[in-house]
Amino acid sequence: MKKVITYGTFDLLHWGHINILKKAKALGDHLTVCVSTDEFNKLKNKKSYYTYEHRKSILESIRYVDEVVPEENWEQKISDITKYDIDVFVMGNDWEGEFDFLRSYCEVIYLDRTKNISTTQIKKDLSMIK
Ligand code: CTP
Repeated sequence: MKKVITYGTFDLLHWGHINILKKAKALGDHLTVCVSTDEFNKLKNKKSYYTYEHRKSILESIRYVDEVVPEENWEQKISDITKYDIDVFVMGNDWEGEFDFLRSYCEVIYLDRTKNISTTQIKKDLSMIK
C-alpha cells in the first residue's frame, strides 16, 4: 500500500483544500493529514477560527482522507514518515523547496495551489460584515 502524507491548518475548509486533498490521495492508496494543533498555531502566531478537534472532525469526514493526526512542532516530519510508514510527502507549492531535505526518507511532491482562495482571504472578506 502506498501511503501519502500532507500538512496544514485546514481552517475554514475551502475548495483549495479539497483540491489538494483529492490530488494527494490520487498519488497513493492511503492519505494521512497532519493538522496543526491549536498550541502549534499559537507558536506560529496563528489563530484558527475552528478548534483542532473541529478541524480534525471535518477532515475525517472527507472521502479522500483516511487518517488525521496532530502536528505539534516543526521537527516531527522525519519521525512521522517512519511512524506512519509514508511513501509520498505532499505540500502546496507555496512551500516549494522547503522540504527537499525529506527526499532521503520518501518522495517529496509540491502541488500547484488553487488560485484565488485561502483561509486568510476568507477571514479578510468576512470581517467586512458587521
Ligand atoms: N492550499 C492549496 N490551495 C489553496 C490554499 C491552500 O493548495 N488555495 C494547500 C496549501 O498549499 C497546503 C494545504 O492546502 O498544502 C493546507 O493549507 P493551509 O495553510 O491550511 O490553507 P490556506 O488557505 O493557505 O491558509 P492560510 O491562508 O491561513 O495560510
